[in-house]
This record gives sequence, C-alpha cells and structure tokens, in this order.
Amino acid sequence: MKRLLALSALWAFVLPVAVAAPDGAALYTEKTCVACHGPKGGKPLLPNYPKIGGQNAAYTEEQMKDIKSGARANGQAAAMAGIMHLVNEEEIKVLATWLETLK
Ligand code: HEC
Repeated sequence: MKRLLALSALWAFVLPVAVAAPDGAALYTEKTCVACHGPKGGKPLLPNYPKIGGQNAAYTEEQMKDIKSGARANGQAAAMAGIMHLVNEEEIKVLATWLETLK
C-alpha cells in the first residue's frame, strides 16, 4: 500500500510535465527562429530583419499569422514565410507569449 501511494505521488509530478504545453524557448530553437532573430530575439541575422524580443504578444501573434497566411508579404516577409509551415496556431501563441517576456 505504501509503495502504491509513493507511486501515485510520483505520477502526480511526472504526468503534468509529460502533457505540458510546448515551451516557447524550446520551440524558438527547434523551429529555427533563433537563426534569423537571434538568441533572445534582439540580435537579428541582418539589419533589415526585426528585433522581436519584448514585443507585445498580441502584435507578434498577429504578425506571425499574417506572414504564415500570406496576408503580410511586404519587405522581407518571404524570408520567414518559408518556415512558418513548421508552426501551428497553438505554437504561434506560445511563441508570442514567450517573446513578450524577453528583454
Ligand atoms: C529565414 C529567417 C527567419 C526565420 C527562420 C524566422 N523569421 Fe521571423 N522574420 C524574418 C524576417 C525577415 C521578418 C520581417 C519580415 C518583413 O520584412 O516584413 C520576420 C518577422 C517576424 C515577426 C514580426 C516582427 C514585427 O515587428 O512585425 C515575428 C513576430 C517573427 N518574425 C517571429 C518569428 C518566429 C517566432 C520564428 C520561428 C517560428 C521566426 N520568426 C522565424 C525572418 C525569419
């Protein structure tokens, strides 16, 4: 019985981690965002690429969706549009929320 209790207590800690929502920092690296926008979204690869760290989440979420859909196709948007198939709407939201927390 004791062992069973200990086991269920362990699961209470392990399970939430296993089913947790994707983490912004991990996505940012996995989905290659870091290559163009820099480690904390503050040192872009080229001067005509935007700094995105610390930007309002509502704004970045909208911009990512627009670049993905093609509604935003101005400037250098084509450079980013090519990789937006790697992220779904939920991941875009997680990334936007995380980006806002950066300095
Ligand atoms: C190949 C380079 C490249 C990659 C990879 C890339 N981006 Fe971009 N991103 C850009 C460029 C260039 C722009 C600016 C487009 C323009 O000039 O309109 C941009 C724009 C943005 C914007 C809008 C910024 C603003 O001020 O309007 C956000 C937010 C953004 N990227 C987030 C991301 C995230 C998150 C990822 C990873 C899923 C990512 N980008 C991957 C190049 C890239």
